[in-house]
Amino acid sequence: MSLRSVIAGCGGHLPSNVLDNAALAAKFGLDTSDEWIRERSGICQRHLAGPDDTATSLGAEAARRALAQAGIDPSEVDGIICATSTPDNAFPSTGAHIQAALGVKKGFAFDVSAACTGFIYALSVGDAMIRAGQARCVLVIGAEVYSRILDWSDRSTCVLFGDGAGAVVLRAEDEPGDRGVLSTHLHADGSQAGILYVEGTTGPLKMAGNLVFRQAVNKLSAVVDEALAANKVEKADVKWLVPHQANIRIIDAMGRKLGLSPDRVVKTVDRHANTSAASVPLALAEAVGDGRIRPGDLVLLEAIGGGLTWGAALVRF
Ligand code: COA
Repeated sequence: MSLRSVIAGCGGHLPSNVLDNAALAAKFGLDTSDEWIRERSGICQRHLAGPDDTATSLGAEAARRALAQAGIDPSEVDGIICATSTPDNAFPSTGAHIQAALGVKKGFAFDVSAACTGFIYALSVGDAMIRAGQARCVLVIGAEVYSRILDWSDRSTCVLFGDGAGAVVLRAEDEPGDRGVLSTHLHADGSQAGILYVEGTTGPLKMAGNLVFRQAVNKLSAVVDEALAANKVEKADVKWLVPHQANIRIIDAMGRKLGLSPDRVVKTVDRHANTSAASVPLALAEAVGDGRIRPGDLVLLEAIGGGLTWGAALVRF
């Protein structure tokens, strides 16, 4: 028996309130321009939470959509892992709140904190629990409301982030063939906490963007190489790159490194901005939902974020 976890369904959910760069600059009186933000980051607009949107409400809706795509009833869920840096409460966890919102009555629920790498970390934990036989069906969610922890007078950070949630259903498969989560690779370097962090627990977020930028491509390249080598696959075998959506220049550099044509790199940063732990599952949900990612495709996920944390996952759909 070769038990593995497969991604049985994906879902995403964004708040309805959309602000383009010009509207954002006007709303907060920022000394910036649409041109600067687009050129330096690739971001054109972002979705921002309304007064009734929370990490729980966004995450629960993304989870409902993932369950619907998988054709799985909430009663079949054995556990919920939510990656978030913007939980609604210190406790209970956002995962526990989402469990209640979905009407799930059994299993575990908890949060994972690894900033923008959170979804890769949560996927790794969910996959390990399934392989260990602790669960057969796990919801892995990334849900964020960064608009609540931003300094809206700091043009170097506030223009870069957005709100949203994405989710996948991980299901145990006893005879998966070559499908499923093939491997996950996680890293952290806590000595670099000072270049990207949140003051206390409520904010604001502080970032030395150029210092993060300088490390991003090197660290992501290394972890991607690690994932390929662990599975003895070549760059050419990768059908889709689903990267963390922080900056189009980092995304394009990673696509070039893998030798992928630009249309094999899933990009949402222009419309979503950086939604932290939600960015990878949101991008995944979009590309699975519109039929780009198809059964049999080899998909590489990667992310880097505060901690520093970084990681990658190789998944065959
Ligand atoms: N509008 C206009 N000017 C701005 C600005 C804005 N919104 N934000 C910063 N600037 C200015 C700076 O003040 C600086 O001016 P100075 O040279 O007079 O001091 C200048 O633009 C250049 O700033 P710098 O930070 O060097 O720009 P950059 O090319 O590195 O781009 C980021 C800035 C943040 C877009 C880029 O560093 C980045 O994307 N970093 C990685 C961020 C990331 O990935 N974070 C998340 C990881 S999860």
